[in-house]
Amino acid sequence: MSSSSKPFLRALAGETLTPPPFWLMRQAGRYLPEYRATRAEAGSFLDLCYNSDLACEVTLQPLRRYGFDAAILFSDILVVPDALRQQVAFKEGEGPVLTPIRSAEDLNALDLSGLHDHLAPVYETVRKLSAAIPKTTALIGFAGAPWTVATYMIEGSGSKDFAKAKGMMFGQPELFARLMALLVQATGDYLIRQIDNGAEAIQIFDTWAGALPEDMFERWVIGTTRSLVERIRAERPGVPVIGFPRGAGYLYKRYVAETKVDGVSLDPSVPLEWAAAELQTRCTVQGNLDPLLLVAGGEALDSGIDRVLNALSKGPFIFNLGHGITPPTPPDNVARLAERVKGWKG
Ligand code: CP3
Repeated sequence: MSSSSKPFLRALAGETLTPPPFWLMRQAGRYLPEYRATRAEAGSFLDLCYNSDLACEVTLQPLRRYGFDAAILFSDILVVPDALRQQVAFKEGEGPVLTPIRSAEDLNALDLSGLHDHLAPVYETVRKLSAAIPKTTALIGFAGAPWTVATYMIEGSGSKDFAKAKGMMFGQPELFARLMALLVQATGDYLIRQIDNGAEAIQIFDTWAGALPEDMFERWVIGTTRSLVERIRAERPGVPVIGFPRGAGYLYKRYVAETKVDGVSLDPSVPLEWAAAELQTRCTVQGNLDPLLLVAGGEALDSGIDRVLNALSKGPFIFNLGHGITPPTPPDNVARLAERVKGWKG
């Protein structure tokens, strides 16, 4: 079946579909008992990311339950620093922990040369998935955007204020620029290789885009994303890119205009009418139900879904959440969402 018969890819190419195609960020994860079982079998979280059979299995689990229009490769944005030889671990209940990059010596110790060897199991997962998913389901590859990945690399963990990462950005601009150049290179290499193994679309997660003032947003969010989009378009034409500059607010508009992404993923705070008028006229929009409505369920969930559908389904649109599914989400509420979106008549 040609890719143009996949609703997700048709929407990204600019078609308006009723009902719109849908998938959910973090659709594979701890809210599903079968994920927790596979995760326990794998060992550590990174062991799961690098076990292509198990990573393939957890990618498929939510598709079996809910019939999403897209599968997203199961991996994590932090496999890139891991592949660059930074120490990365996921501590239970703590999130990611990395040996931080703070100096030129730390940066010089990173090594791009083993990237593809290290990430070979991820490419293997992509290959297995492209053979295993249903014929009308599209396969999304992904990476973290350079700025968001850099926050974890510099902070050494999650952060609330990005004091260390912004400290380097403002106080050691040349060192920061070198790190970002390395990440643009590594991320581009990684995404191209995902495409060569079967990824049909790419999503770039810039979870912490909203933390930057406009001039830094322009350079380190828009600039790096634009070079990734340009590289993919030049080297693998026809593969659409979705950007997710979470928290960008008013700057979503510049992001869309200047990166030239094919699609933009909206966080829950983006006003729907504004998105329809200012963003959807330039590219496909994706989003943006608040993931906590999926925990609440019931009438609140139904009316939240309808509000998003009413506002955005008159143009090129992919229904999604505004951020990832959270672990306390009842799987039945996801089934309720799937039924409601699939039954949408416009
Ligand atoms: O289903 C999917 O969406 C695909 C898989 C996926 C994961 N992480 C799996 C994961 C994707 C696309 C990501 C992206 C990711 N990872 C982002 C960007 C998107 C976002 O959510 O903002 C970020 C910032 C990360 C970094 C990361 N990974 C953190 C901060 C954590 C710990 C927090 C947490 O939820 O535990 C992770 C771990 C992680 N990545 C889990 C999953 C399913 C949970 C780990 C576990 O099973 O123990």
